[in-house]
Amino acid sequence: MARYFVLNTGAKIPSVGLGTWQAEPGVMPSTPPSRLVIGTWTVLKLRPTKRRCTNHAPDDVPVALDSTLQDLQTDYVDLYLAYSPLGSPGTASVKGNVLAHPVVVSAAEMLGKTPAQVVLRWVIQMGHSVLPKSTIEERIKANLNVYDWSIPDDLFVKFSAIQQARPE
Ligand code: A2P
Repeated sequence: MARYFVLNTGAKIPSVGLGTWQAEPGVMPSTPPSRLVIGTWTVLKLRPTKRRCTNHAPDDVPVALDSTLQDLQTDYVDLYLAYSPLGSPGTASVKGNVLAHPVVVSAAEMLGKTPAQVVLRWVIQMGHSVLPKSTIEERIKANLNVYDWSIPDDLFVKFSAIQQARPE
């Protein structure tokens, strides 16, 4: 599995980044792993934005993007980013905890990985980049350790049975 995906412009995007949503100011580790690309948009002369996790169906994407462009009062963005890959456990508006789902937990046990690693690997194995948020250095490193192993087909298909939940 490549550490990068190639965008339609030919540019490369890391398959795993670092989300910062809901991180209190000053709590991100000051020395993140060196190969980590952090989603710190404010220092970039780019116009990135993120797609709500309720708008992942292919038909919903252009509509959601138009609405976001209107909200931002701009006519384009450079990046439109695939957030909350861990299902934002602990967030009040999120029902359930995908990291505790029996399919995820049993796959993690079989593969000797954490539920978070299995979830992230499933998403990048689907071909999407991920931005897991964590302020804990150990987790940030573990969340990047998703390249030198894979979810075998028989386990992979079981993930499709996980019922989707939408934020309220
Ligand atoms: P923390 O910042 O204390 O590590 P998402 O990226 O889907 O929004 O999820 C972010 C949430 O998941 C945060 O509450 C974060 O908590 C937690 N989290 C991040 N990495 C892991 C991990 N490896 N195991 C368990 N929880 C994690």
